[in-house]
Amino acid sequence: MLEGKCVDSAPLHRAECLSVTSSELWTRATADRYDAEETEMSSAAVLGPTLAFLADLAGDGRALEFAIGTGRVGVPLRERGVPVAGIELSEHMAAALRRKIDEDTLPVTIGDMATTVVPGEFTLVYLVYNTITNLLTQDEQIECFRNAARHLAPGGRFVIELGVPPLRFLPPGQVAVPFDVSERHLGFDTFDLVEQILVSHHFTRDDDSDGDDLRYRRENSRHRYAWPAELDLMARIAGLEKERRLADWDGTPFTQDSTKHISVWRKPA
Ligand SMILES: C[S@@+](CC[C@H](N)C(=O)[O-])C[C@H]1O[C@@H](n2cnc3c(N)ncnc32)[C@H](O)[C@@H]1O
Repeated sequence: MLEGKCVDSAPLHRAECLSVTSSELWTRATADRYDAEETEMSSAAVLGPTLAFLADLAGDGRALEFAIGTGRVGVPLRERGVPVAGIELSEHMAAALRRKIDEDTLPVTIGDMATTVVPGEFTLVYLVYNTITNLLTQDEQIECFRNAARHLAPGGRFVIELGVPPLRFLPPGQVAVPFDVSERHLGFDTFDLVEQILVSHHFTRDDDSDGDDLRYRRENSRHRYAWPAELDLMARIAGLEKERRLADWDGTPFTQDSTKHISVWRKPA
């Protein structure tokens, strides 16, 4: 499952957006629901190790979050004392962040993370929660690595959090891989193995529906999935060196059975 519920409700915005990026534009409705729906990803159990890891890498320097969204990570990282700036494509997601923290404390630039340049140098650039996949072409993902390298001080790190493509669950003839079958939500991925694109489908039960009147909201989002090794090559193209790969923020080693990875590349000093 890859996060990125954008979608079908904003065809005009999407068309405007396609002229500069392949990313789907996250709508106001999605932005308004995001924090309420991401309770697990916003829990202390998830954010604790995430923030400790990122704060350690930022050191005494500044951090830049690509696709900062509503500030799920960036806001508490700033509150820990790390100076944070953000780049975000969706004005709606940025507006939700702005309701939590002011511009002087956490500046956000509206733009595409593959190309947007913000002032200053950073010891850490990070891109979490599978969001590299929102760039739907390999060229754009490479540009995203280049843009991270552009913002890093010598010795600085680029960190990505990304799921391992779940293709081991897709035997020949099967068209979809379920990732959530719960009371409120049904989710499954479908794949275009030639174009390296997956679509995450979400059916989320309306809160006010039950019994004989069950109603579900349908959303889907497109992603370009990538293997860890492909990201390493993108990093090399961008002049970054692989430093480490973990299975989670708490330092769990990455193995062949890991379902996600935290990868760290370093700009040579
Ligand atoms: C899964 S959310 C992650 C938000 C936040 N980083 C977090 O961890 O909660 C993905 C975010 O990526 C943003 N996004 C998608 N494509 C983008 C692009 N090309 N440049 C900048 N932001 C982008 C979306 O608008 C959305 O806010």
